Amino acid sequence: MTDQNKPVSLFKDYLEVAEPYKGGKTIDEIKTNKSKIYKLSSNENPIGASPKAVEAIKNHLENLHIYPDRTDKRLRSALYNFYEEAIDESQFIGASSGSEIIDHIARAFAGVGCEVIVSNPCFKPYDMFSSWCGSKVVDVPLLAPNFQLDVDNIIAAINDKTRIIFLTSPNNPTGTHIPKGDIDRLLAKIPEHVVVVLDEVYYHFADAEDYVSAMPYVKEGYNVIGVNSFSKTYGLAAMRIGYGYTTKKLADYIHTICKPFLIDALSLEAGIAALGDKAFVELTVKTVKEGRKYLYGEMDRLGVKYWKSQANFILIKPEISPESFESIMLQEGVMVRPVGNFGAPGCIRVSVGTQEANEAFVAALEKVYLPKLTT
Ligand SMILES: Cc1ncc(COP(=O)(O)O)c(C=O)c1O
Repeated sequence: MTDQNKPVSLFKDYLEVAEPYKGGKTIDEIKTNKSKIYKLSSNENPIGASPKAVEAIKNHLENLHIYPDRTDKRLRSALYNFYEEAIDESQFIGASSGSEIIDHIARAFAGVGCEVIVSNPCFKPYDMFSSWCGSKVVDVPLLAPNFQLDVDNIIAAINDKTRIIFLTSPNNPTGTHIPKGDIDRLLAKIPEHVVVVLDEVYYHFADAEDYVSAMPYVKEGYNVIGVNSFSKTYGLAAMRIGYGYTTKKLADYIHTICKPFLIDALSLEAGIAALGDKAFVELTVKTVKEGRKYLYGEMDRLGVKYWKSQANFILIKPEISPESFESIMLQEGVMVRPVGNFGAPGCIRVSVGTQEANEAFVAALEKVYLPKLTT
């Protein structure tokens, strides 16, 4: 015993309460009699992976017995060129995924006695990774009915213990973006001991006029970290590669806790090649934007409640429970994602797929909505 009442424990209190993350299911986990399954549950790229990345992987299959580059140096150098030398090479941080960057940030800045602000509904790992470091997570929910950032209440929630504010634009699972004016207003009130993370893994799909990425703020020297991934637009979800970028001071600090050999050789080659695959990115973005438009039209026809999206997925609110909705979609061979655990109870997130997949989703939607229209 250390003190009167508390026995010494092997376990950390804050990890004993943590729940493991329930990620999206794989196709193999699904039991249905349909021969074809459309996976619209994990916001993957509808048209596959960047062909240039696939080619690069094939060209590097030899030497798998040799350790990869110890550092993220080659990825940083490729990013420096990709962003047309907007910031210094040393300001990028490469990692084995966007999630890993979020973990780096949590480990670098959060901890016991610290607070982290999130705005639900949002990507669950912000909360999880911060809690795993012992931080208290403070939720300042997005505002109903259209999920705007509650800038005033975020500012009000900042105190001496606050270290990180996680923002996402476009946001998962709502698909909404944070207008530049809101980010400007928030950044004007951020003290030096707080870092603002702007997760922009869906940025390629955003076309709102007032959309802004982290780059201009990083260039101006704000405590802002942009988070990015190769899983979405480049179609490399299976490879696990991502990156962040920030001021030199913060990047140097985060680099001190980056594990050696973090990015495997094939993911590194794939990521670097994908950055140069402009044609694939254009086709992906075109497919998603056309798919979004088609789905809006069909959902309007059927009377589905949904929110317009700046990403490659759409949030909908069915009139039946998300469990029943998911199960009807599965019977029709379409996988969708209930997002109650992202802070959006009663809602479903559906990824924009190929035209064939989108039509399969609409056909499945008709099973739920057409009977209502015809009665
Ligand atoms: C908002 C957001 N950030 C980060 C990620 C992490 O992407 P990954 O770990 O696949 O790079 C995701 C993945 O779905 C996401 O939706």
